[in-house]
Amino acid sequence: MTAILPHGGKLINRIAEGKEREQLLQEAAGFKRIAINTWTISDLDLIGVGAFSPLTGFLNEDDYHSVVKNMRLASGTVWSIPITLSLSDEEAASLKIGERVALVGEEDGEIYGHLDVESIYSVDQEVEAQNVFKTTDPEHPGVSKLFARNATYVGGPITVLNRPQPEKFSEFYFDPAKTREIFAEKGWKKVVGFQTRNPVHRAHEYIQKSAMEIVDGLFLNPLVGETKSDDVPANVRMKSYLALLENYYPQNRTFLGVFPAAMRYAGPREAIFHAMVRKNYGCTHFIVGRDHAGVGDYYGTYEAQEIFSNFTAEELDITPLFFEHSFFCKKCGNMASNKTCPHTKEDHVALSGTKVRAMLREGVCPPPEFSRPEVAQILIEGMKEVTTS
Ligand code: ADX
Repeated sequence: MTAILPHGGKLINRIAEGKEREQLLQEAAGFKRIAINTWTISDLDLIGVGAFSPLTGFLNEDDYHSVVKNMRLASGTVWSIPITLSLSDEEAASLKIGERVALVGEEDGEIYGHLDVESIYSVDQEVEAQNVFKTTDPEHPGVSKLFARNATYVGGPITVLNRPQPEKFSEFYFDPAKTREIFAEKGWKKVVGFQTRNPVHRAHEYIQKSAMEIVDGLFLNPLVGETKSDDVPANVRMKSYLALLENYYPQNRTFLGVFPAAMRYAGPREAIFHAMVRKNYGCTHFIVGRDHAGVGDYYGTYEAQEIFSNFTAEELDITPLFFEHSFFCKKCGNMASNKTCPHTKEDHVALSGTKVRAMLREGVCPPPEFSRPEVAQILIEGMKEVTTS
């Protein structure tokens, strides 16, 4: 085990196995059913494997209000994103407190788990949006997802009975107990976690490698759950990460494993959440660069760093590593930030996401100062697949 404790002190494990699982599955077949979508299935599984420790289930009413208002569970433990289970009014009306219900995939009818109903409650989604996303604008991808759900939630402890099966790259799925074991085997005492929902470009590489100078290993932990439709699909990104690691990173100091969660685009609050989760995976450090988990202009460039000052180092218990906006400077001849480069904007290679996407769509590689050619090539191929499928 790595030295760092999981958030809340104990790694949660609510995955039923063997005979017990078979028995629980049989019982669950006779329970009332709540339909859950892919997003909720991924939350359920992440609770089950302890990635969301100390959560043992979907938030009950007290925890929900406490998280939305204060970024803490009712116990006081830091938790910034409400992990909730929304249900239809008909489903809610049929449930009783204390009852055990089956959580069933809305598409495949599979019983993914059961939940012991602790509370059924209706929420004000405008308040949730304003607090969590700092906006009620339905154009915000996280807010639009929130508003699309029914405002009645059910909370309580869960048990996972079937696990979602990845279609591709299953060899890169590791539960927190496993990553902890792997880091220990590698002898890594200091592990830096890196969250991304994008291909890794030179700026990402620069901040990762700057961090690698002061720790034992890098846990490249791309988020591969639901993202908005114009983000690069996870399967394409995975190919690009592999090409990058193979060509530019020391193998014995990097480890690639996915984070199968949905992207919330909650900027600052999501940065805290991402850090707590990476602590559960066994990271001692976590990278927060510019506009972490941001979208559009909803958050200030460094708000996702500033939010960390609301908490003490003891209660976070993972060290955030903050990085300034990084770029390639032609005069310096290297990657830099305003902390290290004295030159002006004209000397910096700056490309917007929109511009890069347009280039890739046209089959044009962005300059090597922006993206490694191996990565650009994979993205160009990926774009072709997306547009022809
Ligand atoms: S995120 O939504 O997953 O945060 P992204 O994949 O773009 O988005 O970013 C991954 C991490 O790299 C985040 O911590 C982000 O702040 C950081 N980052 C991205 N681009 C830059 C950049 N040019 N300079 C510094 N940090 C960056």
